[in-house]
Amino acid sequence: MTIEVTVRRPRVFSGVQPSGTLHLGNYLGALRRWVELQDEKENYFCIVDMHAITMRQDPIELRRSTREVAALYLACGLDPQRSTIFVQSQVRAHAEGCWILNCVTPLGWLERMTQFKTKAKHRESVVLGLLDYPVLQAADILLYDAEEVPVGEDQKQHIELTRNIAQRFNHRFGDTFTLPQAVIPASGARIRALNDPMKKMSKSEAHVRGHAVQLLDTPDVIRAVIRRAVTDSGREIQFSDAQEKAGVNNLLEIYELLTAQRRDVIEEHFAGKGYGMLKKDLAEVVVEALRPIRKHYDALIADSAELDSILAAGADRARAVAEPKIEEIKRKVGFIVPQDTT
Ligand code: AMP
Ligand code: TRP
Repeated sequence: MTIEVTVRRPRVFSGVQPSGTLHLGNYLGALRRWVELQDEKENYFCIVDMHAITMRQDPIELRRSTREVAALYLACGLDPQRSTIFVQSQVRAHAEGCWILNCVTPLGWLERMTQFKTKAKHRESVVLGLLDYPVLQAADILLYDAEEVPVGEDQKQHIELTRNIAQRFNHRFGDTFTLPQAVIPASGARIRALNDPMKKMSKSEAHVRGHAVQLLDTPDVIRAVIRRAVTDSGREIQFSDAQEKAGVNNLLEIYELLTAQRRDVIEEHFAGKGYGMLKKDLAEVVVEALRPIRKHYDALIADSAELDSILAAGADRARAVAEPKIEEIKRKVGFIVPQDTT
């Protein structure tokens, strides 16, 4: 007698907001690593437009930006055959899941979130959605029973919160959710701003001159931005944790991630050379890494009907997992689910 066991590949869920253009930090900290996971894992990569509207968005710009992020996902190498790529608002279960999870999440947990505190600071009025943001994120992840959530360092607290919400729900209603794990890379988790190495490179500031290399920047812009990158008054080109070396270290990390060379080999290569040389070499490495992405992107964005149909197919696949899960959740909390008789 043979017993057949189907082993499910580990599920991966991650998302990016379609607010502003993606930058090198998004690529190195997120997208590039997702591409590497495609064959080992069962992947769900979402464009989280419902998260984006927690900050004010121009409707036309939001739609444009959603397609831009989708095209960039594909241009960076995510394959819609191997990964489920979809837009959050096209799968209703996310909003429904968020509501139900809202009703088990203590307010105090949300008020403690660093991202909320940073975004709410210096604002006269804050929308409720901004506070609720991490609960929607928890719904995203838990609906798919994702084991792994590959993200940058900044999202660690949200994944921890997701686990706490899942545990609370499981405790109250019986085993329902898989507890997810944040997967944060040792290197590249926090690419720093080029104009201020004390800050992380971030979408909200990507429009500030010199802050970031955007994935769609032209070679000339890339060279100019890297040439102007803030370093320090020293000469040593070495990997270092020292605060005053954060700028140079950031450039070296980007170089390391894009060339896949060993650190000692890189230090050897730059020994005795000045920061100008580091910047010049790095700029060429970045230009060459982004060139094929831009080319692929230009082709994809030209056909928005094709892009929309890839996204619609992705949403169908996502629904096939999220729909039965939301029904299970509804049954657990005591809602009448049509076609049920109990
Ligand atoms: P966001 O730009 O905040 O929507 O983030 C999208 C993804 O990129 C998340 O997984 C982030 O953790 C990651 N990410 C954002 N900024 C950086 C950065 N400067 N360095 C590394 N990863 C980042
Ligand atoms: N909050 C994430 C960010 O800003 C985006 C996000 C939304 C996400 N839902 C998610 C990331 C689920 C991972 C899993 O980067």
